[in-house]
Amino acid sequence: MADCTEKLPRTVWWQLEGSHGGVWMIDQTKLPVVGETVCCDTYACVIDAIKRLVVRGAPAIGVSGALALAVWVVNESSQSDVEGFITAMEGVASEVAQARPTAVALSWAVNRVMDFAHAKAAEGLTLEHLKAAIVEFAESFITEDEAINRAIGKHGAKLLKPGSRIMTHCNAGSLATAFFGTALGIIYTGFNAGLVERVYCCETRPVNQGGRLTAWELSRAGIPTTLICDNMSATVLGKGMVDAVIVGADRIAANGDTANKIGTCGHAIIAKRFGVPFYVAAPMATIDMSLASGEEIVIEQRSASEILGNASSGFFDTIAKSPEFEALDTMTHDGPMEFSMVGGGRFAIDRDLDGRTFAYHSWLRNTPDGIDVFNPAFDVTPAELIDGIITENGIYTRGEDGAFHF
Ligand code: MRU
Repeated sequence: MADCTEKLPRTVWWQLEGSHGGVWMIDQTKLPVVGETVCCDTYACVIDAIKRLVVRGAPAIGVSGALALAVWVVNESSQSDVEGFITAMEGVASEVAQARPTAVALSWAVNRVMDFAHAKAAEGLTLEHLKAAIVEFAESFITEDEAINRAIGKHGAKLLKPGSRIMTHCNAGSLATAFFGTALGIIYTGFNAGLVERVYCCETRPVNQGGRLTAWELSRAGIPTTLICDNMSATVLGKGMVDAVIVGADRIAANGDTANKIGTCGHAIIAKRFGVPFYVAAPMATIDMSLASGEEIVIEQRSASEILGNASSGFFDTIAKSPEFEALDTMTHDGPMEFSMVGGGRFAIDRDLDGRTFAYHSWLRNTPDGIDVFNPAFDVTPAELIDGIITENGIYTRGEDGAFHF
């Protein structure tokens, strides 16, 4: 059978043109309607992309964090000696590592690049050779991540039987990694082996990584997919429509408590109630042995706007010189045309410069004024609700004390 991941794009990649470097990424805020790429040639641009979820998913932000350092090294560092260079790089690394707090992959990747830089500097490399070595090391995170995900896929697929119906939450797919995915990597491996019948994909409010990104990946991969709202999992699991739940992870504590996208813990409680196995798939680097339990995991709080309204992007595809074209052309002649909506919200129309296509970006409020919002991006699923943690090294199960021992 053909590899179902053939039509999936790479999520983040590095390009060096002459002496100028760029971190390229698919803009995940606009998928699936608009398939745009973003190129960052400063580390601040990569930090902004991580914060705005242009690139998201724990492994993908880890890789992007490493590449943020590479882009600083190539385009922005101006020190004339190794000592000054390393000191300045420490400052940049600390800023990058703090872009988002919950996924440990980000600080893990940045610290690894810094450790590498220190080790190479101690070997006595010239500044020029040191910079080249750091860039090469940062770029190697891309291939390493894919290899880890493929190994997770192979281990996890052993849990599947022919005809498996799997539920997943958020996007732990190729888009959450450099390529292939963690939870979805298992589904892709299983589908290629003829073991997966259908995937139930939770839309994952508030920013719909499931409905926008997972459903898009699965449909490109040709996997039968049923989209459900997050609050439908009790119905789907209770009615016996699913054989296993597989999700990713942003940070796993030493006892196996797992932080993942908000809503995951609820699905795990429901799965336990109805006797459906619940698995977590993640690279070993997601396990933070410095934290005894999930209580110590810092949970990112995100902007109220994610809940107060919906963001969307798209295109007006006009016929050149038609009345719609003329109207949009006039409107955007001097730059994007922005509208403020009555009751809150923004709508902007921009040119796409191919002679007939115009883009729109909107945030439309669908909630009343005067309410407070609580918007944690992740929750922690207690280890006792997890039947297995699937890593590149194999599958961990709980010990007799109910905790995981990595
Ligand atoms: O806020 P995000 O989109 O970066 O969150 C990502 C998740 O929580 C995913 O569910 C995932 O499992 C972790 S990345 C494989």
